[in-house]
Amino acid sequence: MAKVNQNYLRLPGSYLFSMIGEKVRRYQEQHPNADIIRLGIGDVTQPIAPEVIQALHSAVDEMGEAKTFHGYAPDLGYGFLRSVIAGMDYQNRGCDISAEEIFVSDGAKCDCSNIQEIFSVDNKIAVCDPVYPVYVDSNVMAGRTGEYDPASGRFRDVIYMPCTKESGYVPQLPEEVPDLIYLCFPNNPTGAVMKKTQLQEWVDYASRHGCVILYDAAYEAYIAEADVPHSIYECEGARECAIEFRSFSKTAGFTGLRLGFTVVPKKLEVEGTKLWPLWARRHGTKYNGAPYIIQRAGEAVYSEEGRRQVLAQVAYYMENARIIYDGLKAAGYEVSGGVNAPYIWLRAPGQMTSWEFFDHLLDQAHVVGTPGSGFGPAGEHYFRLTAFGDRQNTIEAVERIRRL
Ligand SMILES: Cc1ncc(COP(=O)(O)O)c(C=O)c1O
Repeated sequence: MAKVNQNYLRLPGSYLFSMIGEKVRRYQEQHPNADIIRLGIGDVTQPIAPEVIQALHSAVDEMGEAKTFHGYAPDLGYGFLRSVIAGMDYQNRGCDISAEEIFVSDGAKCDCSNIQEIFSVDNKIAVCDPVYPVYVDSNVMAGRTGEYDPASGRFRDVIYMPCTKESGYVPQLPEEVPDLIYLCFPNNPTGAVMKKTQLQEWVDYASRHGCVILYDAAYEAYIAEADVPHSIYECEGARECAIEFRSFSKTAGFTGLRLGFTVVPKKLEVEGTKLWPLWARRHGTKYNGAPYIIQRAGEAVYSEEGRRQVLAQVAYYMENARIIYDGLKAAGYEVSGGVNAPYIWLRAPGQMTSWEFFDHLLDQAHVVGTPGSGFGPAGEHYFRLTAFGDRQNTIEAVERIRRL
């Protein structure tokens, strides 16, 4: 008789963004005239850059000719994309990363949830609290987290590292040593960053204790300050203890096109076993590659004109971030983030819980945000707004919140 994976039954409720979507859908049904502004889910709103569109068109044309048609992509990605990534994202920043160490994929969500497969189920994970839910949920599915405790909102066998206002929303090195450490900077949801000296401490800690850092740099393109590292490989020793995830979603608006990559250094090993061949094996067995046309689109992001265009989009969103940050601060809210990240993290007024504030904002201002408690217990009483709206909606949403 077939049996289900019981680990799935440990997952509490539905995925955060499905829950928000359902609540908003119901509200809209009951209030059909409400003009709702969505600053909840972190999806982009600007169209794809013209240079990328042009690359898509010509790649589509290639697919229509026998001579230039492309079938299955190479397992780990096309060489043209892997080498431009290695050069522009890493070597130009002084990071010793080669094209062979780049694994092209259809996005960071899949990679940062699938990576745990190459590690033993006995590994103990550490995550920030609040945290992007995918890291914990994918480990729950794998049976690595123990039971969920509804009273604390935590899984018994996970090490949670609170990121609070007092610590600048950056975690402290944990006393109990984990095996796998998930870090995401610039951070979703708080918008916080780690300075290079801070990240170096984590790399040193991981090297000392034999941990592997799973570093999610999906928001790297939003870094504005000079002393904030764009890659963990800017830190000494990271090639021996870290895997990095990147995404084209927020860098170049590819949420609907789907493209990302993971860096697994060839030197990285655990218990004498190199991780590169394991991830290559997993990739080759369970994944058939991002489409040729999308990889060509990704390559166009690195052309001179493509770079200029996507940086202009990032600047557009960061102006939205400034508008939200300044507007809410002027209205008396406690706000952070928004300087090196497209997320603004604010405290709900009074003693309101995150979900109470969500309902209040939806009902009174017709603005949708994301309740901080959905990212973990330390996010309770906080709320996330994204800078990914269009300008007019962003200005209007801030005005509505200020009028409350
Ligand atoms: C921290 C973080 N990592 C990964 C992702 C997913 O990226 P992708 O669209 O490449 O799957 C997101 C998307 O919101 C994210 O916030």
